[in-house]
Amino acid sequence: MNFGVIGHPIGHSLSPIMHASNFEALERDDQYIALDIPPQNFNHIKDIISEKELDGFNITIPHKESIIPYLDEVSTSAQHIGAVNTVVIQDGKWIGYNTDGIGFVNGLINKYGSIKDKKILVLGAGGASKGIVSEMMKFTDSKITVANRSLNRFDNWQLAIDAKDLNAIKPILNQFDIIINTTPVGMNETESELIIPVEHINKNALVCDIIYIPEKTPFLQACEQEGLSIYNGLDMFVYQGAESFKIWTKQEANINTMRNKVQEELKRR
Ligand code: ATR
Repeated sequence: MNFGVIGHPIGHSLSPIMHASNFEALERDDQYIALDIPPQNFNHIKDIISEKELDGFNITIPHKESIIPYLDEVSTSAQHIGAVNTVVIQDGKWIGYNTDGIGFVNGLINKYGSIKDKKILVLGAGGASKGIVSEMMKFTDSKITVANRSLNRFDNWQLAIDAKDLNAIKPILNQFDIIINTTPVGMNETESELIIPVEHINKNALVCDIIYIPEKTPFLQACEQEGLSIYNGLDMFVYQGAESFKIWTKQEANINTMRNKVQEELKRR
């Protein structure tokens, strides 16, 4: 089968290498290509994909929302999140899903166990946050707290969450067992801004970031220095890919092979 990822820029995407390692481990004869589609060419998306004869593809920045009008069907959860990262093409029909949230949650639970009784704080209220929160709600009994710097971001959230102003989070930071940064703060290593004051976090908390390049954001580094456990976004990337693969082929991916390959590639770069 033929797969791919569309985005802009796409040159540094680890998806082709990661998926190829899985195809090889499972002795499958599939292909996975990267397609750079600048926003001004996006209106040709149907022609571009049909020319490549893809059976399915991933969508990354900046097209996760722009793809929606081109789909014949969108899963309920992707509709709710407002972003699609996986399309399967079945009998010419384009069906959209979002595997980012499930990717994060599968990775987290596989590594750290049940989140049923955990008090969870999510930083940021964009698409990534919404995907993670709506998926995590299936696995926890506690109400999830979501903190954002602008409260109007919550206007279209129809989820039973506890919405908080990011600037007013300090006094309650010690209440949380798991804290997850979904904002882009820390993507640029030269900026040392921390999204929250780490010294107020509970010493037993697990602090997560969905960023994995850099491997440790300044936020995760500061948390580690405080003696906190940290977890970056690498598993989320691997597990979202594995979920996409499952949607396309109905087969389980070889997660360990995929993770090892991505880690090896990141070390090489
Ligand atoms: P994504 O799809 O990756 O989630 P997004 O939808 O653009 O991206 O959302 C980015 C999130 O990061 C938003 O919650 C944004 O906060 P605002 O709603 O207030 O814009 C948050 N964010 C981005 N930069 C931030 C910063 N410097 N400090 C705090 N929050 C930030």
